[in-house]
Amino acid sequence: MFSFKVSLSLAALCSLAAAQSPVWGQCGGIGWTGPTTCARTHALYTVAGSTCVKENDWYSQCQPGAGTTPPPTSPPPTTVPTSTPPATTTSTAPTGLSSIPASTLYQITNFGPNPNNVGMYVYKPARVQAKPPLIVASHYCTGSAQAYYSGSKFAQLAETYGYVVLYPSSPHSGTCWDVSSTETLTHNGGSDSLGIASAARYAITNWGVDPDRVFAVGTSSGAMMTNVLAGAYPDVFKAGIVDSGVAFGCFALPGQPEDSWNAQCAQGQLILTGQQWAQKVFSAYPGYTGTYPKIQVWHGTADTTLYPQNFFEEIKQWTTVFGYPSTPISNVTESYLPRGYSNATYGPNFQAILAQGVGHTVPLFEQQYLQFLGIA
Ligand SMILES: *[C@@H]1O[C@H](CO)[C@@H](O)[C@H](O)[C@H]1NC(C)=O
Ligand SMILES: *[C@@H]1O[C@H](CO)[C@@H](O)[C@H](O)[C@H]1NC(C)=O
Repeated sequence: MFSFKVSLSLAALCSLAAAQSPVWGQCGGIGWTGPTTCARTHALYTVAGSTCVKENDWYSQCQPGAGTTPPPTSPPPTTVPTSTPPATTTSTAPTGLSSIPASTLYQITNFGPNPNNVGMYVYKPARVQAKPPLIVASHYCTGSAQAYYSGSKFAQLAETYGYVVLYPSSPHSGTCWDVSSTETLTHNGGSDSLGIASAARYAITNWGVDPDRVFAVGTSSGAMMTNVLAGAYPDVFKAGIVDSGVAFGCFALPGQPEDSWNAQCAQGQLILTGQQWAQKVFSAYPGYTGTYPKIQVWHGTADTTLYPQNFFEEIKQWTTVFGYPSTPISNVTESYLPRGYSNATYGPNFQAILAQGVGHTVPLFEQQYLQFLGIA
């Protein structure tokens, strides 16, 4: 089982170190020799400070504060909350997008089959496109809808581009996603992936979301979930951005608790052929004859939580699903990306960005994701 707690002792221990890890950067773990304190600012977005959170023995991560204005008297949390975060307002079964308050994180319930009671939050910008795109943004382990909302730019950019964002919140104690059970890895099979797919379907039916522009993005465990949604619900999702995850089915542990940690996969020791990986995708939804969502994967070469081998397994999987050659058509640096990032393109539907020297996880590049998704 995968467990975690806020590493207060680590944070205290490290207050002497000079260099600081960036938000989302690694700040501890076995073998880690880099900075162990966390930066309070981020080059790309504003955060309410960040703290070093232990995910497991090998990995601690600088995670942004949950809110911008915590009450001055409230003490710092000693444990990561396991319940869903407080939303500004709640309602049941909103009918129509107009019933959802604008520019706030708003909880929805009763959106369809949701056997695990995945929490669900929507962000609707002040001005919404006609037939808007939908982005489903899945958080990392120890995260929440609220944390991913505050720690990313998806909501802010929705104000510019007029799309709608759904932030699911994991119901599991460590707030990882179930990416290991047979249920979650099967089309309409149940578990977390069904709850998330239900909310996306609900948005299409009730909010007028464009069914051709329903997208999934996610970081770490949320990246794994993004691959799960792409593989098990290719009829719902049209594109996915996978930031530091693993191939669809790599975490599979049938019969184990739903949010089990698959160390073999995480450590990059589950090495299959493209055909074997693709078969896992095809088996998730037998009989499906439609197209699969276009995918962009990002991974760091210094990732010791989900080893970089997982990047190459993802490449084998999706290039085989798309029938692309196993070597990229182009592999170039991009002027907007930091030094050491390379963008390998295998075909119109698959790109793989490798970040040299970057650990777990690769920072978010929301604006570029929107380009890949055809929104910006
Ligand atoms: C792209 O090129 C970089 C730099 O040569 C290399 O490190 C990386 O592995 C290549 N990417 C892929 C997916 O082969
Ligand atoms: C990668 O390269 C392709 C082909 O030039 C381009 O369309 C795409 O936008 C690039 N992706 C990123 C993330 O820069």
